Amino acid sequence: MFFKKKIEWYKLFESSIAANAYVAEGKVNTISVNNKKVCIAHTKEGYFAMRDKCPHNGASLGNGFCTAEGSIVCPVHRYSFDLKTGRATSGGGDAARTYPLEIREDGIYIGFEKTVWF
Ligand code: FES
Repeated sequence: MFFKKKIEWYKLFESSIAANAYVAEGKVNTISVNNKKVCIAHTKEGYFAMRDKCPHNGASLGNGFCTAEGSIVCPVHRYSFDLKTGRATSGGGDAARTYPLEIREDGIYIGFEKTVWF
């Protein structure tokens, strides 16, 4: 039996305007998609998505805030994580789970990795 990794894409927003209305630049918000709670951050570099669960102790990263350096800061113990890689930029060494985003003609999509057995 073999397996391969596959990304399944889900539409988050119909347009950049809809995304900006949901999470303005410099802000963070949460959204549920495919039974997953996701933290969406909007910086001057664009949109980023992470699992809405701090790897330190499980707090909602969506209740945190973004820094000018491109990190998200957890609201509970203030550990921070790089929005692109999920790596800790302060605090503990655990990484936050990141998800890819794609801006397409018909909206903004998020990708969840899935293992497929065949
Ligand atoms: S729960 Fe996020 S830093 Fe502790």
